Amino acid sequence: MSAAVVELSGVTVEVAARRLVGPVTLSVGSGEHWALLGPNGAGKTTLLSLIGAVRHPSAGEATVLGERLGHTDLRALRARIGAVGQSVAGRLPGHVTAREIVLTGRDGILAPWWASFDAAELREAGELLEHFHCGHVSEQSFESCSQGERQRVLLARSLFGRHGLLLLDEPAAGVDLPGREALVGALDTLAARADAPAVVQVAHTLEELPAATSHAVLLREGRVVASGPAGEVLADAPLSACFGLAVRVERSSGRYSARATASW
Ligand SMILES: Nc1ncnc2c1ncn2[C@@H]1O[C@H](COP(=O)(O)OP(=O)(O)O)[C@@H](O)[C@H]1O
Ligand SMILES: [Mg+2]
Repeated sequence: MSAAVVELSGVTVEVAARRLVGPVTLSVGSGEHWALLGPNGAGKTTLLSLIGAVRHPSAGEATVLGERLGHTDLRALRARIGAVGQSVAGRLPGHVTAREIVLTGRDGILAPWWASFDAAELREAGELLEHFHCGHVSEQSFESCSQGERQRVLLARSLFGRHGLLLLDEPAAGVDLPGREALVGALDTLAARADAPAVVQVAHTLEELPAATSHAVLLREGRVVASGPAGEVLADAPLSACFGLAVRVERSSGRYSARATASW
C-alpha cells in the first residue's frame, strides 16, 4: 500500500454560496498517475486548485504532501508541487527566456532572479526543453513563444523541480501531435522512475493519457461520477454517464481512445 500524497475527505469548494465542487473524497498514492476527466465546467480546474494549495476547501479535510490545508503555509506547500496550466502561465513573467521559466520550476517561484542556479541546472533546463522539441526557443522570451511552445516550456518547468506531486491541467491544450506524444512519452518515462511523483492530469481526450495512467476520477457538475483503477473507470458506462454521451472506449498498447456511438 503506497502512502497517500493527496487525501481529500468530503471536501467542497463554494464561491458566493454556489457549490462548485464536492463533496469529493479521494486518495492519491505516491507514484500513482490519476486522470481527471469531465465536461467543461465540471470543476476540474477548481479541484486541482485545491490540491495545488491555491485555495482552501470550504468544508471537509484536505491533506497534500503531509500538510493539512488550513493548518499550513499555502505558499510553502505550493513550492513543493509541480503545476502546468493556464493559471500558472498567467502568473509567470513574459519577458524572461524560456530556459529561465524552466529554472523557476525548481523552487516553484515565479521569477528566476529570486534564486541562483549552477551549470548543471542550466544544462538540465536546456535538455528538458530539447526533450519537448523546443530547444530552439530556449533563449527566446516566454511571451514570444507560440501557445504550444509555451505549454511545452511549462511541462519542462514542471519536470525540472523533481516534485513529489505534479498537477497537469490540460497539458496537451494547443500542443501539436508530436508535442502530445512527447508529453505522453515523458509521463511514461517519469512513471517508470523509482522516485516517480504522484500525478493528477486533467485531460479532454483519452489519447493524451500515458499508458502509465493507473487511476481515474470522473467529475460531473462538481460531483464524482466514478473513481478508481483506470481500467475500470475509463470504460464505456462510466464515461458515457459522465459526459451524457454514449461513448466506446478502446485500448491499444496501454493507451486509451474514445469515440461516440449511438445516441445516449
Ligand atoms: N471564482 C469563481 N467564481 C464563480 N464561479 C466560478 C469560479 N471559478 C470557477 N467557477 C465556476 O465553477 C465551475 C467549474 O469551473 P472549472 O473548475 O474551471 O471547470 P473545468 O475546469 O472542469 O472546466 C464553472 O461553472 C465555473 O464557471
Ligand atoms: Mg478547467
